[in-house]
Amino acid sequence: MPNPIVSLDHVSRVYAMGRMEVPALADVSLTVHPGEFVAIVGPSGSGKTTMMNVLGCLDRPTSGQYLLAGTPVSDLDDDGLARLRSLTIGFVFQSYNLLPRTTALDNVATPLLYQGVPRRERHARARAALERLGLGDRLDHESTELSGGQQQRVAVARALVTEPALILADEPTGNLDSQSGAEVLALLHELNSAGRTIVLITHDQDVAEAADRQIHLRDGRILT
Ligand SMILES: Nc1ncnc2c1ncn2[C@@H]1O[C@H](COP(=O)(O)OP(=O)(O)O)[C@@H](O)[C@H]1O
Ligand SMILES: [Mg+2]
Repeated sequence: MPNPIVSLDHVSRVYAMGRMEVPALADVSLTVHPGEFVAIVGPSGSGKTTMMNVLGCLDRPTSGQYLLAGTPVSDLDDDGLARLRSLTIGFVFQSYNLLPRTTALDNVATPLLYQGVPRRERHARARAALERLGLGDRLDHESTELSGGQQQRVAVARALVTEPALILADEPTGNLDSQSGAEVLALLHELNSAGRTIVLITHDQDVAEAADRQIHLRDGRILT
């Protein structure tokens, strides 16, 4: 087996609420290997957002160890963590999070800017990613000129353009009609078939069915 991309070892995340402690994640262990397509599914309050923030290095565990692509996140300062995140993870969000008044091409090229890739190469790679997702005729469109499904495909292109080891998708179909949602799930499936590792976070059991493996969260714990 190659090294895991995600390794959570007895991870907890406890929020302090005055004198109360809220264990949003409690003793969670999870391993995701390269090439897997895993869904993390649970109802409201089960810990999905907390899990997303920990996996995405936007938050740190209170206890336990998280290794992302073999690197213990606890060894990194905030800048180091941001660098590891930008090199390793492509994010897809429910609300697309595209930059307004910015073309599809520039939206997709932006993560490469943070990696210091020269302009010409940024645009070539962004164009290739958009063409791959069937948006080659939408390069110069701004988000307001695109449907929800198209905006989410731009977001997927942006997540892919850095060739990240992991795609982390948080309710990626939550704002879409059922047909556009099914298309985005089919797209994730296709990317996974091409070897991309995907973690999909959702409250929707039907959406979770798109994955090869489902992890069920309840009250901050993984159901076994
Ligand atoms: N910043 C916070 N402070 C205190 N409690 C929180 C905070 N964020 C989440 N929680 C609590 O942690 C639990 C899990 O929340 P969350 O991860 O948002 O679940 P989900 O995304 O599945 O709805 C809930 O009980 C929630 O109230
Ligand atoms: Mg949530």
